[in-house]
Amino acid sequence: MGTGAGGNFNWIAPVYDALAFIVFGHKLQQAQAVFLNRIPTGASVLIVGGGTGWLLEQVLRRCQSKRIVYLETSTQMVARASRRMVQKALVGSVEFRVGDESSLKPDERFDVILTPFVLDLFSAQTLQTTIIPQLRTVLKSGGLWLATDFVKPPSNWQKALLWVMIRFFRLTAGIQAQHLADWQKLLSEAGLRCEKRQTEVGGMVSAEVWGQVD
Ligand SMILES: C[S@@+](CC[C@H](N)C(=O)[O-])C[C@H]1O[C@@H](n2cnc3c(N)ncnc32)[C@H](O)[C@@H]1O
Repeated sequence: MGTGAGGNFNWIAPVYDALAFIVFGHKLQQAQAVFLNRIPTGASVLIVGGGTGWLLEQVLRRCQSKRIVYLETSTQMVARASRRMVQKALVGSVEFRVGDESSLKPDERFDVILTPFVLDLFSAQTLQTTIIPQLRTVLKSGGLWLATDFVKPPSNWQKALLWVMIRFFRLTAGIQAQHLADWQKLLSEAGLRCEKRQTEVGGMVSAEVWGQVD
Protein backbone atom coordinates (compact mmCIF):
# COMPACT_ATOMS: atom_id res chain seq x y z
CA MET A 1 0.00 0.00 0.00
CA GLY A 2 1.21 3.47 -0.83
CA THR A 3 1.03 6.47 1.45
CA GLY A 4 -1.34 8.49 -0.77
CA ALA A 5 0.77 11.41 0.36
CA GLY A 6 1.25 12.70 -3.18
CA GLY A 7 -2.42 13.63 -3.30
CA ASN A 8 -5.16 13.03 -5.84
CA PHE A 9 -4.65 14.94 -9.07
CA ASN A 10 -7.76 13.59 -10.85
CA TRP A 11 -9.81 16.70 -10.35
CA ILE A 12 -7.05 19.06 -11.42
CA ALA A 13 -5.84 16.93 -14.34
CA PRO A 14 -7.99 18.61 -17.04
CA VAL A 15 -6.59 22.06 -16.21
CA TYR A 16 -3.13 21.18 -14.86
CA ASP A 17 -1.11 22.01 -17.99
CA ALA A 18 -3.05 25.23 -18.62
CA LEU A 19 -2.45 26.43 -15.05
CA ALA A 20 1.25 25.62 -15.23
CA PHE A 21 1.45 27.48 -18.54
CA ILE A 22 -0.31 30.58 -17.18
CA VAL A 23 2.19 30.84 -14.31
CA PHE A 24 5.41 29.59 -15.91
CA GLY A 25 4.93 29.43 -19.69
CA HIS A 26 6.85 26.45 -21.05
CA LYS A 27 9.65 26.82 -18.49
CA LEU A 28 8.65 23.91 -16.26
CA GLN A 29 8.52 21.60 -19.26
CA GLN A 30 11.85 22.82 -20.61
CA ALA A 31 13.49 22.21 -17.24
CA GLN A 32 12.40 18.57 -17.33
CA ALA A 33 14.06 18.04 -20.68
CA VAL A 34 17.50 19.47 -19.79
CA PHE A 35 19.21 16.11 -19.16
CA LEU A 36 17.20 13.77 -21.37
CA ASN A 37 20.31 13.33 -23.49
CA ARG A 38 21.79 11.37 -20.56
CA ILE A 39 19.35 8.51 -21.13
CA PRO A 40 21.39 5.76 -22.80
CA THR A 41 20.18 3.93 -25.89
CA GLY A 42 18.34 0.77 -24.92
CA ALA A 43 17.65 1.98 -21.37
CA SER A 44 14.74 0.86 -19.25
CA VAL A 45 13.13 4.01 -17.91
CA LEU A 46 10.77 4.67 -15.01
CA ILE A 47 8.78 7.92 -15.18
CA VAL A 48 7.18 8.70 -11.83
CA GLY A 49 4.33 11.24 -11.74
CA GLY A 50 4.65 12.27 -15.35
CA GLY A 51 1.22 13.95 -15.39
CA THR A 52 -0.42 14.45 -18.79
CA GLY A 53 2.53 12.99 -20.67
CA TRP A 54 4.55 15.86 -22.11
CA LEU A 55 7.75 14.35 -20.75
CA LEU A 56 6.81 10.89 -21.99
CA GLU A 57 6.44 12.35 -25.47
CA GLN A 58 9.91 13.91 -25.26
CA VAL A 59 11.49 10.67 -24.04
CA LEU A 60 9.84 8.76 -26.90
CA ARG A 61 10.92 11.33 -29.47
CA ARG A 62 14.45 12.05 -28.27
CA CYS A 63 15.68 8.84 -26.64
CA GLN A 64 15.92 5.31 -27.84
CA SER A 65 14.80 3.61 -24.70
CA LYS A 66 13.96 -0.08 -24.64
CA ARG A 67 11.04 0.11 -22.25
CA ILE A 68 9.22 2.76 -20.25
CA VAL A 69 7.09 2.27 -17.16
CA TYR A 70 4.80 5.26 -16.64
CA LEU A 71 3.90 5.22 -12.96
CA GLU A 72 1.11 7.63 -12.03
CA THR A 73 -1.34 7.64 -9.16
CA SER A 74 -3.94 9.65 -11.10
CA THR A 75 -6.16 7.69 -13.50
CA GLN A 76 -7.06 10.95 -15.23
CA MET A 77 -3.41 11.81 -15.81
CA VAL A 78 -2.72 8.32 -17.16
CA ALA A 79 -5.74 8.60 -19.47
CA ARG A 80 -4.38 11.88 -20.84
CA ALA A 81 -0.86 10.55 -21.28
CA SER A 82 -2.02 7.43 -23.11
CA ARG A 83 -4.37 9.49 -25.30
CA ARG A 84 -1.44 11.75 -26.17
CA MET A 85 0.53 8.72 -27.33
CA VAL A 86 -2.28 7.63 -29.62
CA GLN A 87 -3.11 11.11 -30.95
CA LYS A 88 0.50 11.94 -31.71
CA ALA A 89 1.21 8.46 -33.07
CA LEU A 90 4.14 8.04 -30.71
CA VAL A 91 5.92 4.76 -30.99
CA GLY A 92 7.56 2.88 -28.15
CA SER A 93 7.13 0.24 -25.52
CA VAL A 94 5.25 1.96 -22.68
CA GLU A 95 3.50 0.35 -19.76
CA PHE A 96 1.02 2.72 -18.14
CA ARG A 97 0.69 1.75 -14.50
CA VAL A 98 -1.79 3.43 -12.19
CA GLY A 99 -0.16 3.39 -8.78
CA ASP A 100 2.69 4.70 -6.72
CA GLU A 101 6.11 3.43 -5.64
CA SER A 102 4.45 0.51 -3.83
CA SER A 103 3.25 -0.76 -7.24
CA LEU A 104 6.82 -1.43 -8.32
CA LYS A 105 7.63 -5.12 -8.50
CA PRO A 106 10.34 -6.53 -6.24
CA ASP A 107 12.48 -7.75 -9.13
CA GLU A 108 12.04 -4.69 -11.37
CA ARG A 109 15.13 -2.62 -12.13
CA PHE A 110 15.60 0.52 -14.24
CA ASP A 111 18.57 2.21 -15.86
CA VAL A 112 16.99 5.64 -15.45
CA ILE A 113 14.35 7.05 -13.10
CA LEU A 114 12.68 10.40 -13.82
CA THR A 115 10.89 12.36 -11.09
CA PRO A 116 9.51 15.55 -12.68
CA PHE A 117 8.00 17.87 -10.06
CA VAL A 118 7.06 14.97 -7.81
CA LEU A 119 9.46 15.10 -4.86
CA ASP A 120 7.98 18.47 -3.89
CA LEU A 121 4.63 16.83 -3.04
CA PHE A 122 5.93 15.03 0.03
CA SER A 123 7.12 15.80 3.52
CA ALA A 124 10.80 15.24 4.29
CA GLN A 125 9.84 12.25 6.42
CA THR A 126 7.89 10.50 3.65
CA LEU A 127 10.68 11.18 1.19
CA GLN A 128 13.24 9.79 3.59
CA THR A 129 11.36 6.71 4.78
CA THR A 130 9.31 5.73 1.74
CA ILE A 131 9.70 7.46 -1.61
CA ILE A 132 13.47 7.73 -1.95
CA PRO A 133 14.34 4.25 -0.54
CA GLN A 134 11.69 2.51 -2.66
CA LEU A 135 12.77 4.24 -5.86
CA ARG A 136 16.42 3.67 -5.04
CA THR A 137 15.78 -0.03 -4.72
CA VAL A 138 14.60 -0.27 -8.34
CA LEU A 139 17.51 1.79 -9.71
CA LYS A 140 20.13 -0.46 -11.29
CA SER A 141 23.65 -0.14 -10.02
CA GLY A 142 25.24 2.47 -12.27
CA GLY A 143 21.79 3.86 -13.08
CA LEU A 144 20.76 7.51 -13.17
CA TRP A 145 18.03 9.41 -11.38
CA LEU A 146 16.97 12.56 -13.23
CA ALA A 147 15.22 14.83 -10.74
CA THR A 148 13.66 18.13 -11.73
CA ASP A 149 11.97 20.10 -9.01
CA PHE A 150 11.49 23.29 -7.12
CA VAL A 151 14.26 24.33 -4.78
CA LYS A 152 14.44 27.02 -2.12
CA PRO A 153 13.99 30.14 -4.25
CA PRO A 154 16.36 33.09 -4.10
CA SER A 155 13.88 35.96 -4.04
CA ASN A 156 10.97 36.85 -1.80
CA TRP A 157 8.39 36.95 -4.57
CA GLN A 158 9.42 33.46 -5.64
CA LYS A 159 9.16 32.27 -2.04
CA ALA A 160 5.64 33.73 -1.95
CA LEU A 161 4.75 32.05 -5.24
CA LEU A 162 5.97 28.69 -3.96
CA TRP A 163 4.00 29.16 -0.75
CA VAL A 164 0.82 29.88 -2.76
CA MET A 165 1.43 26.85 -5.01
CA ILE A 166 1.88 24.47 -2.09
CA ARG A 167 -1.30 25.83 -0.46
CA PHE A 168 -3.15 25.51 -3.78
CA PHE A 169 -2.16 21.86 -4.26
CA ARG A 170 -2.89 21.05 -0.62
CA LEU A 171 -6.40 22.38 -1.15
CA THR A 172 -7.13 21.00 -4.61
CA ALA A 173 -5.17 17.74 -4.64
CA GLY A 174 -4.56 17.12 -0.93
CA ILE A 175 -0.78 16.85 -1.22
CA GLN A 176 1.11 16.17 1.97
CA ALA A 177 3.86 18.83 1.81
CA GLN A 178 3.41 21.88 4.00
CA HIS A 179 6.62 23.39 2.78
CA LEU A 180 9.30 22.37 0.35
CA ALA A 181 11.45 19.52 1.68
CA ASP A 182 15.18 19.60 1.07
CA TRP A 183 15.03 16.72 -1.43
CA GLN A 184 18.64 17.30 -2.56
CA LYS A 185 19.94 16.70 0.95
CA LEU A 186 17.72 13.61 1.31
CA LEU A 187 18.92 12.14 -2.01
CA SER A 188 22.50 12.58 -0.93
CA GLU A 189 21.80 11.09 2.51
CA ALA A 190 20.32 8.08 0.69
CA GLY A 191 23.71 7.37 -0.87
CA LEU A 192 23.23 9.17 -4.18
CA ARG A 193 25.56 11.74 -5.64
CA CYS A 194 24.62 14.73 -7.79
CA GLU A 195 26.66 14.53 -10.98
CA LYS A 196 25.26 17.56 -12.68
CA ARG A 197 22.73 20.27 -12.02
CA GLN A 198 21.31 23.18 -13.95
CA THR A 199 19.27 25.94 -12.40
CA GLU A 200 16.13 26.93 -14.25
CA VAL A 201 13.17 29.31 -13.90
CA GLY A 202 15.15 32.12 -12.29
CA GLY A 203 16.64 29.85 -9.61
CA MET A 204 13.31 28.33 -8.48
CA VAL A 205 13.88 24.99 -10.20
CA SER A 206 16.82 22.65 -10.43
CA ALA A 207 17.29 19.96 -13.08
CA GLU A 208 19.70 17.36 -11.76
CA VAL A 209 21.40 14.10 -12.62
CA TRP A 210 22.01 11.79 -9.65
CA GLY A 211 23.97 8.58 -9.61
CA GLN A 212 24.95 6.09 -6.96
CA VAL A 213 28.00 6.59 -4.79
CA ASP A 214 30.44 3.75 -5.59
C1 LIG B 1 2.79 18.33 -9.62
S1 LIG B 1 2.23 17.08 -10.71
C2 LIG B 1 3.50 17.09 -11.95
C3 LIG B 1 3.05 16.49 -13.27
C4 LIG B 1 4.12 16.48 -14.36
N1 LIG B 1 5.34 15.85 -13.94
C5 LIG B 1 4.40 17.88 -14.83
O1 LIG B 1 5.41 18.45 -14.42
O2 LIG B 1 3.57 18.42 -15.57
C6 LIG B 1 2.62 15.62 -9.79
C7 LIG B 1 2.12 14.33 -10.43
O3 LIG B 1 2.59 13.23 -9.65
C8 LIG B 1 1.55 12.28 -9.50
N2 LIG B 1 1.85 11.56 -8.25
C9 LIG B 1 1.66 11.96 -6.97
N3 LIG B 1 2.16 11.06 -6.11
C10 LIG B 1 2.65 10.05 -6.85
C11 LIG B 1 3.31 8.83 -6.53
N4 LIG B 1 3.55 8.48 -5.26
N5 LIG B 1 3.68 8.02 -7.55
C12 LIG B 1 3.44 8.37 -8.84
N6 LIG B 1 2.84 9.52 -9.20
C13 LIG B 1 2.46 10.35 -8.22
C14 LIG B 1 0.28 13.10 -9.49
O4 LIG B 1 -0.84 12.34 -9.86
C15 LIG B 1 0.61 14.19 -10.50
O5 LIG B 1 0.23 13.83 -11.80
